[in-house]
Amino acid sequence: MNFHDVWSKIGFLPSLLYVFLADRTGIENFYTRIDKNVILGALPSNSVLEKITTEENVKGVISVVRDWELKLFNVNFTEWEGRGVAHLQLDTIEFEAPSLYAIEKGLEFIQKVAQSGGVTYIHCKAGRSRSATLTACYLIKNYNMNPDDAVKYITYKRKQIRITKTEKAQIDQCYNIYGSADGSTRAPVQVNDDI
Ligand SMILES: *[C@@H]1O[C@H](CO)[C@@H](O)[C@H](O)[C@H]1NC(C)=O
Repeated sequence: MNFHDVWSKIGFLPSLLYVFLADRTGIENFYTRIDKNVILGALPSNSVLEKITTEENVKGVISVVRDWELKLFNVNFTEWEGRGVAHLQLDTIEFEAPSLYAIEKGLEFIQKVAQSGGVTYIHCKAGRSRSATLTACYLIKNYNMNPDDAVKYITYKRKQIRITKTEKAQIDQCYNIYGSADGSTRAPVQVNDDI
């Protein structure tokens, strides 16, 4: 048994309650717009999905969580797919980073949804770590940012971001793979630019 997985299960109910309350009361921004194609947020309930599909043009959801986290939350993504919302699950243990393979799949998914004119909602449990790691890789690939600026940019938009050491190392790997992949010499986007 993986220690992080066990720890994550112990901590799940309190944070589930937190996410539930945030959903009801909006005590902290439940989700954050990153750019025209990406929103980063917490595990969505059916009512949040209703809102983001109608108000934010969300046509794809990436769940950077384990199966049991999704099941506990009682959202039936098969049903949502029937309503035109594509779904991709990237099985990732809390406090750990999505694999490079998962990141590649995620970035392809975002691009496909964007090409169809839609927005992708990336979430883990609270939208603080695992999903932020994928989002940082997205910024590196699409905006020529370096790893530090990508993390700073996301934190500037969403204050509760917490990137673990393992996740930062994975973001650095993303930079090796996707940084200036197109050979572009355009200036990196600045941390407080609106994109
Ligand atoms: C989810 O929705 C699909 C399609 O409506 C349905 O076939 C399936 O039984 C549902 N699954 C659960 C666990 O409710």
